[in-house]
Amino acid sequence: MGTVILGTGSCLPRKALTNFDLEKIVDTSDEWIRTRTGIESRRIGGKGEKTYQIATAAARQALDMAGVAPEEIDLLIVGTISSHMLMPSCACFVQKEIGAVNAFAYDVNAACSGFLYGIDIADKQIRADHDFKVLVIGAETLSSRLNWRDRNTCIVFGDGAGAAVLGHSDDDGRGVIGTNHCSDGRLWQLLYMHNAPSTNPDLLVADNPGVHIVMEGREVFKYAVKAMEDSIVGLFGKTGLTMADVDLIIPHQANMRILKKVAERLEMPEEKVVLNVMNYGNTSAATIPIALDETNRAAMLRPGDTVLFCTFGGGFTWGATLISW
Ligand SMILES: CC(C)(COP(=O)(O)OP(=O)(O)OC[C@H]1O[C@@H](n2cnc3c(N)ncnc32)[C@H](O)[C@@H]1OP(=O)(O)O)[C@@H](O)C(=O)NCCC(=O)NCCS
Repeated sequence: MGTVILGTGSCLPRKALTNFDLEKIVDTSDEWIRTRTGIESRRIGGKGEKTYQIATAAARQALDMAGVAPEEIDLLIVGTISSHMLMPSCACFVQKEIGAVNAFAYDVNAACSGFLYGIDIADKQIRADHDFKVLVIGAETLSSRLNWRDRNTCIVFGDGAGAAVLGHSDDDGRGVIGTNHCSDGRLWQLLYMHNAPSTNPDLLVADNPGVHIVMEGREVFKYAVKAMEDSIVGLFGKTGLTMADVDLIIPHQANMRILKKVAERLEMPEEKVVLNVMNYGNTSAATIPIALDETNRAAMLRPGDTVLFCTFGGGFTWGATLISW
């Protein structure tokens, strides 16, 4: 008995940008990108595909699968760092689009960890009130937040959205088993995105490069591997489970090399790790719910399966979650 995922959904923008397309934009090659990241293609949002619009499409699918009406949603959370407006939140736009008139809605800014942080919040709300229904979305159009002249970053990220509807189940042995989330703001300079420059001269930040992602790739790589490993080990410690109990692993799709390192260190069986980073790149808060939805729709999840999620992102933020499906 616990907090369960009642339905999932996802939405990917139509336009695909392959590594070969990128060769025409920056000094790079398909071979370099594939070897260093495992990424082959990513999606790029276009007209009618703003963050809230792809979030809305994913949300509608998740509600449909869950058999939950928009009016039944009590809380709507969007994990995002690329909403088309700073205020109102992306969550309020989605609320308006789907007609979730009884919900309160807000965004979680936790970069790539936004979706799992949202699941954590949802779980706590639902434990406190078993009638509560929560819609958690991860949605990004990072293509609008990239410096397309910076080959260190523009090859890594992509656009997409995924959603999950959560509620309480009385079924024995089902639901969120545990979560283990962390942040460390001291490391912010390794992966960040400025605001637009301030209009208040007293609050101007020197060298503000504007609204795009800046990243120290090598450092991020090292921290990401260690942080994901530590959070999973910590979560196993909290829950008394081990890797042998896990049926499926849905990690944040940062890049193939990071995932291979984490898998190697924790002896994750390769066939249990869900990977789609080659198709979509790193869609930040959206990678986990997109991968979850694809897995769910491919009927790869059976009731009672133990699913491990793990993430890492700017902040730094990171963590792991275990769910009995
Ligand atoms: C970004 C990343 C792929 C770069 O790979 P790397 O092996 O660390 O590469 P480096 O940055 O050390 O650069 C190595 C060389 O490749 C070059 N290079 C960088 N990007 C390139 C590109 N897109 N194409 C071709 N060459 C590139 C560099 O200029 C450098 O050249 P030099 O040796 O002549 O100076 C890697 O650091 C990484 O995956 N980091 C984690 C990123 C991530 O997942 N972020 C999100 C976390 S949520």
